Amino acid sequence: MKKSCLILFAFLSLHTFAQKFEGLALTPPMGWNSWNTFATHINEKLVMEMADAMVSSGMKDAGYTYLVLDDAWMAKERDSGGNIIADPQRFPHGMKYIADYVHSKGLKFGLYNCAGTRTCADYPGTRGYEYQDARFYASQDVDYLKFDWCNTKGINAEEAYTTMSKALKAAGRPIVFSLCEWGTNKPWQWAESVGHLWRTTGDIGNVFAGDKKYGDWSALGVLHIIDMQDSLRKYAGPGHWNDPDMLEVGNGLTESENRAHFAMWCMLAAPLIAGNDIRKMDASTHDILTNKDVIAIDQDSLGIEGFRYATKDSVETWFKPLKNGDWAVCFLNTSNAPQKVAFKWKEEAVNDTLSNRQLDAKTTTYQLRNLWTKKSAGTTKKDLSATVPPHDVLLLRLTK
Ligand code: GLA
Repeated sequence: MKKSCLILFAFLSLHTFAQKFEGLALTPPMGWNSWNTFATHINEKLVMEMADAMVSSGMKDAGYTYLVLDDAWMAKERDSGGNIIADPQRFPHGMKYIADYVHSKGLKFGLYNCAGTRTCADYPGTRGYEYQDARFYASQDVDYLKFDWCNTKGINAEEAYTTMSKALKAAGRPIVFSLCEWGTNKPWQWAESVGHLWRTTGDIGNVFAGDKKYGDWSALGVLHIIDMQDSLRKYAGPGHWNDPDMLEVGNGLTESENRAHFAMWCMLAAPLIAGNDIRKMDASTHDILTNKDVIAIDQDSLGIEGFRYATKDSVETWFKPLKNGDWAVCFLNTSNAPQKVAFKWKEEAVNDTLSNRQLDAKTTTYQLRNLWTKKSAGTTKKDLSATVPPHDVLLLRLTK
């Protein structure tokens, strides 16, 4: 009897408590990743310039902390000892040199690999090398690992990601673990104790409405991805986030679309991983990405994802409960024409059963603040009436 209790306890300890580092992502991770703009064209100079730009542009001050190198940082093959190595031409001083530089700027450093035998861009994958690679990341002072899902035929996703999670834990350096499994095996159902964030969809493209075709696959547009999130909010919270993919702000969307995309990622408590060339972003992109009031919606310590309250005449109304009884509301115009928005605060019943929160404008008056214009928008005593431009948002914070 005693022995079986002990075995059960050991089993539970291993499975319940020992898989991932806790406390590393109490709010959604923020940073920059190389993939959306540079794909495989990355090198030492570019990365160091990007670290400089994260500081000089104010991105770091706005909360963007992780600089993550995506696919193709490594040599095409492992060395004779099976070690993964940085591409010697593009990263001649190796990865520790980059990590040191990134850390010297007050930032954190991330790398990418894949649960399969090869990465999506055909570099060496981690399958069979989990503990060896985890020790390498720890030795290079890596703080974040994005772990992809290409070339995984016959592999069980939960097992593969759990193995890597345990390998990172065993290597001993606290590392944020980002599961990039595209939602194929519903990671939201099993990854809370495995990683800190998990992709919920296939890859994002720099398109707002509709998808972007690339031969035999399509990158998903912003609205398409938003549609795929609504039922997943109950799975997210401090330390474990739904990840609707990295940002395309500044990558060819219109200014309105950039604003709407960013606002909605914040309403979704999504990781905010910029994917534009921050060395040369225009003023509007800069102001969108570094708007601290909007970022505060994303980074709210309650960690509750927003929900779609209503859809009418191509306008979606989303609400997100915030700390201290505040709320965010976002009116998203999904159409190509301006849309009128009317909202009678006192007649609506905004009731979030997940967080057990009610917005009761009958008994409470909320102050309204427009987070893009940074101006007061009156109070909930008066019905709201506004026009939202095409593919844009009206984003308000309600404070008691
Ligand atoms: C997959 C991922 C992307 C990116 C590429 C790299 O498509 O979903 O985010 O990491 O691989 O090859």
